[in-house]
Amino acid sequence: MHEVIITNYELRIIMILPKPSLEDIEIHLLLEGVYQYYGYDFRNYALSSIKRRILSFMQLEGFANISILQERLLHNPNYLERFLLALTVNVTSMFRDPSFYNTFRSQVIPFLQTYPFIRVWHAGCSTGEEVYSMAILLEEEGLYHRCRIYATDTNEKVLQNAKSGIFSLKLMQEYTQLYLKAGGKKSFSEYYTAAYDNAIFRASLRENIVFAQHNLATDSSFNEFNVILCRNVLIYFNQILQKRVHELFYNSLCTFGILGLGRQESIRFTPYEQQYEEIVKGEKIYRKIGVRGHRDALTHRDFNRK
Ligand SMILES: C[S@@+](CC[C@H](N)C(=O)[O-])C[C@H]1O[C@@H](n2cnc3c(N)ncnc32)[C@H](O)[C@@H]1O
Repeated sequence: MHEVIITNYELRIIMILPKPSLEDIEIHLLLEGVYQYYGYDFRNYALSSIKRRILSFMQLEGFANISILQERLLHNPNYLERFLLALTVNVTSMFRDPSFYNTFRSQVIPFLQTYPFIRVWHAGCSTGEEVYSMAILLEEEGLYHRCRIYATDTNEKVLQNAKSGIFSLKLMQEYTQLYLKAGGKKSFSEYYTAAYDNAIFRASLRENIVFAQHNLATDSSFNEFNVILCRNVLIYFNQILQKRVHELFYNSLCTFGILGLGRQESIRFTPYEQQYEEIVKGEKIYRKIGVRGHRDALTHRDFNRK
């Protein structure tokens, strides 16, 4: 145990914090080095999960300790890409949590129909499955031609996959089920062509999508959006980084803009809790309402009339 003494003017509080383990200190130094040298900032990722990923990477690559890994990483830039891929969790799916898409169709689409032009930001889009899912949904609802979708991720490698629009054919049976549960209106196979082991998605679905690298830990906003979807990304961040990202999203959304989060994520206990209302309980789809109280004074319809 070690003592951290925080002195308040009248009150002297002594907080006893557990001494960090040697491993935690090494991880801290490693992430600091990667940030200082390469600019990739993992310093505010949730410690338990980043630690797990670093340790499993070390085991796979045969490093005896973190300092050896640090030496290799800082002196060999070619090694960085492998490390970055190992640090981020890229698991994704088409129409993941289909009830999210159902709610989006029934509750958000009518609201988006009132806009002449719609900007959507998928932050942390991984290999793009959720972006294509949204493009399909918007097309079926007759809105795609009015949309520009910005699909971003910190990881250049997964973005390459996303841009290609090619996914494993083996997954299509599962995705068809999810598409139907999500309220899909057509036959899912209309959206892709099978070629050997691949499902190649229609190029027209990509027409209004811009894929770009963007790091939520270090980059700023690049537009004003009607919809921001950032699902299953914030769970990997600590509270400091979550707060930064919520601030970024709040400032990037137009008034009455929509924020969609993952199942295990929430706006609760963030400084922005009062600035959003949840559209359907549990679906993690929120509407920006600004400071509480304004909502009562100004409805979305009023806003659109101005
Ligand atoms: C688990 S995937 C989620 C993919 C998709 N949003 C979904 O819900 O299926 C998390 C993604 O967040 C990305 N990510 C992690 N840290 C990021 C950061 N600082 N900025 C942008 N994207 C990040 C990862 O590269 C990964 O592709």
